[in-house]
Amino acid sequence: MKSNETAQQNGALKGNTNAKSVKQIQTIKKSASNNSDAKNSSNEVQGLRGLFEDSLKDIYWAEKALVKALPKMTKNATSKELITALQDHLSVTIGQVKRLEEVFELLGKTARAKKCDAMEGLIKEAEGIMEECEEGVVRDAGIIMAGQKVEHYEIATYGTLCAFAKILGEHEIVSLLEESLTEEKEADGKLTEVAETSINIQAAEGDAEDDMETMEDGRNSGRTKKLM
Ligand SMILES: [Fe+2]
Repeated sequence: MKSNETAQQNGALKGNTNAKSVKQIQTIKKSASNNSDAKNSSNEVQGLRGLFEDSLKDIYWAEKALVKALPKMTKNATSKELITALQDHLSVTIGQVKRLEEVFELLGKTARAKKCDAMEGLIKEAEGIMEECEEGVVRDAGIIMAGQKVEHYEIATYGTLCAFAKILGEHEIVSLLEESLTEEKEADGKLTEVAETSINIQAAEGDAEDDMETMEDGRNSGRTKKLM
């Protein structure tokens, strides 16, 4: 699957974006030492904390939605490797929900979910793919594609949340969020591995068989078929 290359490119882009954001926020913090800017800076740091807490509610909703969506994806999958990868990621996701509840506790806040429009869209897209694709290798390939889009969204979110937590001096929370970030990267890597070692090969073989059958049909019926 080419999506791995794209993921790396996106990762690089997101890395740059995060680095830029961190620099901007560091500038806010530095300017706080200057008395004339102190009031504005303190507002900006407070604003960043608000954005951080809001984004935590967003990913909390997203993870809980995934706990419901992953079993449906597993039911629709055929490949044993894919089923195992999805089942493993379900237990990881349940752990991530609990980890986020720990984060809220460390912040002295009640864990509250706020609807994540992006994750809702990604899950809807996954459901659409499962309905449209025939059961078997093609649907499996579609599930992997949808799953990797979800993972990339979560990698971007946890990456940014880690950067925010660092700036806000929430070191214990940084460690927790980094654990989830690592798990999302591992899940993305696992899906690439399943696609490359199993699904794509089977799908290509299936296509080749279909082409052979079409050629045979053409010969048998006496018609000439041009196959690309
Ligand atoms: Fe997750």
